[in-house]
Amino acid sequence: MRLSESIILPTNKPKTGIYPLSLAPMMDRTDRHFRYFVRQITKRTLLYTEMVTSAAIIHGDHQRLLGFSPEEKPLALQLGGDNTQDLSECARIAEDMGYDEINLNVGCPSSRVQDGNFGACLMMQPEKVAKSVEAMSQATKLPVTVKHRIGVDDCDRYEDMVNFVRIVSGAGCTRFTVHARKAWLQELSPKENRDIPPLRYSDVHRLKQDFPHLFIEINGGFTNLEQVRQQLQFVDGVMIGRAAYDNPYLFANSDRLIYGEDITPPNRQQVVEAMYPYIDNWVSQGLKLNKITRHLLQLFAGQAGSRVWKRMLTENSCHPGATTEVVRTALESVKIKRGERG
Ligand SMILES: Cc1cc2nc3c(=O)[nH]c(=O)nc-3n(C[C@H](O)[C@H](O)[C@H](O)COP(=O)(O)O)c2cc1C
Repeated sequence: MRLSESIILPTNKPKTGIYPLSLAPMMDRTDRHFRYFVRQITKRTLLYTEMVTSAAIIHGDHQRLLGFSPEEKPLALQLGGDNTQDLSECARIAEDMGYDEINLNVGCPSSRVQDGNFGACLMMQPEKVAKSVEAMSQATKLPVTVKHRIGVDDCDRYEDMVNFVRIVSGAGCTRFTVHARKAWLQELSPKENRDIPPLRYSDVHRLKQDFPHLFIEINGGFTNLEQVRQQLQFVDGVMIGRAAYDNPYLFANSDRLIYGEDITPPNRQQVVEAMYPYIDNWVSQGLKLNKITRHLLQLFAGQAGSRVWKRMLTENSCHPGATTEVVRTALESVKIKRGERG
């Protein structure tokens, strides 16, 4: 029997949107300001928030933790947690706030997260994940999706991942993002767990073959759109993390090449200029300029003027009272470096 024949097909779930490319959830990086900035580069790519724990949401300020600009959509909220009731309450709150998808983190190996019994250690508790997915699905009309690893510790055979996906998809999850590395929960730090365990893309490709009705997204180590296009021959989607932060302009051609839109992407200067009203608005509300500009530093990565751009933003954005003028001046200096201004 093919594996896919043993899957219980969910009947009452809406289909997830078709997003062949996404920006990965990244703590301290994919906050609302970075997402708004990325949205000036790509209109179609699905964006993920940083992980927000269900406990923080239940006890905290929803607007501060979950607030976003409508321009950021399509936008998925990533939740961390293992308390079924809290997670379903968070799913309901997220739907009310206008998110497009709820994603459960089953991939984070940090010790703090392990202490809370969530993140990657949940890969060894598929029934618990299934219960959470089921409860969240009952609380919201939004798609409930899962981001996980190919394995953890000694639970890293292909069959272990299949068992996980079979049980969780049976509870109604139809979109899985698979970080194609296992995680060593005790031995490695979160950073090492993103680099040291080898990438096993073929396991993710095989997963798609065995679960053809599920949306399978691959993640880990991708740095350009050509790789994305190659991967889309085997899977439904590709998620990019670190490379997106180190070189956000890599998304520039994604609406055209990946989403088939007949558009010319904005150049880097236009991306910066599109940020001015947003920056003005936030700074006028008292936000320190560097909370936004820290995310803009890599816009000119690999380009003439990158050094001056980074230096001017870094040195001048932290002054009290710094405004958009800092960004305008930095952009002028980049143009001079690039020979675009005399
Ligand atoms: C700084 C940082 C923070 C991260 N935070 C999260 C997170 O909150 N939730 C999550 O599921 N993964 C998180 N990740 C993992 C990424 O989403 C992604 O799975 C990983 O970086 C591999 O993809 P990449 O090789 O394209 O970077 C984080 C990664 C980095 C570098």
